[in-house]
Amino acid sequence: MTAAAGTDRSTGVIQPTFTGRHWWRDAVIYQVYVRSFLDSTGDGIGDLAGVRAGLPYLRKLGVDGIWLSPFYPSPQHDHGYDVAAYQDVDPLFGDLAEFDLLMSAARRLGIKVLLDIVPNHCSVEHHWFRDALAAAPGSPERARFHFAAGRGPDGAEPPNNWHAMFGGSAWTRVTEPDGTPGEWYLHMFTPEQPDWNWRNPEVPAEFEGVLRFWLDRGVDGFRIDVAAGLYKHPDLPDSDDPDVDARTRDSVNPLAWNQPEVHDVWRHWRTVCDEYAARDGRERLLVGEVSVPTAREHALYVRPDELHQAFFFDLLGAPWDADAFRKVISEAMEDIAGTGSTVTWVLNNHDQVRTVTRYGGPSTEGSGLGAARARAAALLMLALPGAAYIYQGEELGLPEVVDLPDDQITDPIFRRTGSRARIRDGCRVPLPWSGQASPFGFTSGAAGARPWLPQPDYFAEYATDRALADTRSFWHLYRDGLQLRAALPQLGEGVLRWLDRQPGVLAFERGDGLVCAVNFSTAPVPAPVSGTPLLSSGPCPAGVLPGSTAAWWLSDQ
Ligand code: GLC
Repeated sequence: MTAAAGTDRSTGVIQPTFTGRHWWRDAVIYQVYVRSFLDSTGDGIGDLAGVRAGLPYLRKLGVDGIWLSPFYPSPQHDHGYDVAAYQDVDPLFGDLAEFDLLMSAARRLGIKVLLDIVPNHCSVEHHWFRDALAAAPGSPERARFHFAAGRGPDGAEPPNNWHAMFGGSAWTRVTEPDGTPGEWYLHMFTPEQPDWNWRNPEVPAEFEGVLRFWLDRGVDGFRIDVAAGLYKHPDLPDSDDPDVDARTRDSVNPLAWNQPEVHDVWRHWRTVCDEYAARDGRERLLVGEVSVPTAREHALYVRPDELHQAFFFDLLGAPWDADAFRKVISEAMEDIAGTGSTVTWVLNNHDQVRTVTRYGGPSTEGSGLGAARARAAALLMLALPGAAYIYQGEELGLPEVVDLPDDQITDPIFRRTGSRARIRDGCRVPLPWSGQASPFGFTSGAAGARPWLPQPDYFAEYATDRALADTRSFWHLYRDGLQLRAALPQLGEGVLRWLDRQPGVLAFERGDGLVCAVNFSTAPVPAPVSGTPLLSSGPCPAGVLPGSTAAWWLSDQ
């Protein structure tokens, strides 16, 4: 698909400046949270062989690729985002031979595979961090991390006032090898996740080796964890207001995130990916988890020689309101269009309350309203120009599990803050595949184990076997949307033109005559276009767009 150059704000037409065909520009990628997808060993935890077994299901759904959450050796303090070894598989999830089998199976089915790479921090069990603890202050081993002397009497106060993202100080004091209280090390997440010092050339060199290791094993690219992180202000000064309530999680402390040097890393990683693509013609993809305060800053990460994509989280953060959605969509498209990239849309991931519950309120099973809105939002997202990411279970309409007992919660945020407010276990409950009772086919439980998080009884209604058999299910909506997206030249990359609309309704035309409209209100409105109905998120009588519903038409005009 190609697009003409230019953005014309006066006509409301937004079109990218880039021309050319690159698979990732309008790809739909499915996020596999490995420990909750499918368990092949009966230990209650999903694994790589489970992912391989699930590939035909994903082929049927029609996604272009998968992103695998971290499966590397890890003590699992943050479910794998605390990496102890970057070039191996944790026995919990399989081994390198199983990874290779997964890669070949995905290749046979035409499914691309992205890995999750975690360059901002590692695990306290990484051998370089162990070396650092065993070495002296000022040693080369410590210089790979941020070690610093404390302040106050006997250095008993942290080196600065920064707060960790998951609660508490961003610093932890170590005991020196001789048993005395010693230096402090920086960790922007949990104390088990020490931050790398990217100003030390050994660190970028090490990560280049990691990239090449997995590229040599055939992966199609990487999702980059905390991609606005890595570099800290060189002086590690106090923050004026460490509690500043910024709009996005990762931009809380501007001294610790979004430093200019990080862009050099993405430029270098891009050259590595391009080198592989030049060798075999297969383009590799870098998609960053970039949480920065504005769409404009976000766009800097996807300049033509940096990341291919960066998740655009403002859609996910927008309240259920037509004006709010229009604003974030317009801003994203205007800012990204000039870079040559496409917008990367996201409604759900493993860190966020699932849409059914987010849009419907905190009822246990997700109210009917939440489900209707989540379905409408899905059709909206699949009609927007650019790429889209679907989080496992989203295609089943799974609600957030909001009533996990305290003693079953595993998210380190709960331990660190003592509050359930931001915990992420509710969207990570293992998928239901079949049957009437837990474990719903997720695990055989052969080893006597239950799913690592308890599945509620009502998951029976969402099991994949039921979803596939019921043409009114979320699954069929996503599958039909993906099929149309693949078949219709108007969808995917290209032009979006806003249409005049009634209050509470968002309507736009894609390419030549494909119209998508969403009714954010609860009352029906006249359909904004006359034409052939293609797909709707709920029952849609001729000439009407019911409340909390989205629809696609081919316009007669
Ligand atoms: C990212 C991940 C999240 C993880 C954090 C620390 O935000 O999405 O799950 O806890 O980074 O690695």
